Amino acid sequence: MLGLRAFGSRARAPPFGVNAARRARYASVMAVRRFVERDLPLVEQGVPERKISAVHRERLARQSQDECRYLLSFSNERPVGWVVLLIGSDEWSEWRFRYLCAELQDLYISPAARRQGLGTELLTAAEHAARQLGFGAVGLSTGAATDLDYVPARRLYEKRGYIDVSRGPWLVSWSWTDNQGERRADWEVLGSYFIKHLA
Ligand SMILES: CC(C)(COP(=O)(O)OP(=O)(O)OC[C@H]1O[C@@H](n2cnc3c(N)ncnc32)[C@H](O)[C@@H]1OP(=O)(O)O)[C@@H](O)C(=O)NCCC(=O)NCCS
Repeated sequence: MLGLRAFGSRARAPPFGVNAARRARYASVMAVRRFVERDLPLVEQGVPERKISAVHRERLARQSQDECRYLLSFSNERPVGWVVLLIGSDEWSEWRFRYLCAELQDLYISPAARRQGLGTELLTAAEHAARQLGFGAVGLSTGAATDLDYVPARRLYEKRGYIDVSRGPWLVSWSWTDNQGERRADWEVLGSYFIKHLA
């Protein structure tokens, strides 16, 4: 697949002692590369539970202006998730101002592909891209520790060396764009801000 090796692609070695079913899953080849326009149909097929082509297009347009990097995760050449890395100057959260960091948004792996290391791989590729672009840190907002929906994400970030710098929950506002490209109602959740300093 064109450009698939931008951030490397590899078959994973199963951890010692895993059963046959898990071993088969670990035999798949995962890869991360930049999301490009022609990926859209495959992404809609590979991640049918989130049909957000208008959102993808908006992000691709911002990527073409170097405001973000949009990375796709593949398992056996099938797209299964993505992450946005904000690197430009048009979107600054108060935390980005404070830490002058690149910022991750919408890390997502399709449910059937979870717990196989793909989220970790995507995060690693985003950190690598941030480092290459000269950033000393990566930040992200996620749900508060009290929000059970965000337990997997928080565990992943903590495992990867991210530190909660928000010292207690703060209110995060979210908005989304529907498939017709319309910005829809915002909502608010209690969140935390995590930072990882890049070596
Ligand atoms: C968070 C998310 C991206 C993780 O993706 P993933 O591919 O399953 O993650 P990995 O397989 O790389 O998991 C790495 C580690 O994260 C932690 N983790 C992942 N899923 C977990 C779960 N369901 N419960 C507890 N810990 C979990 C574990 O420490 C895991 O390591 P281990 O498997 O060796 O125990 C995925 O669950 C997801 O898309 N969730 C919905 C969207 C979301 O919450 N995004 C984050 C928004 S801030």
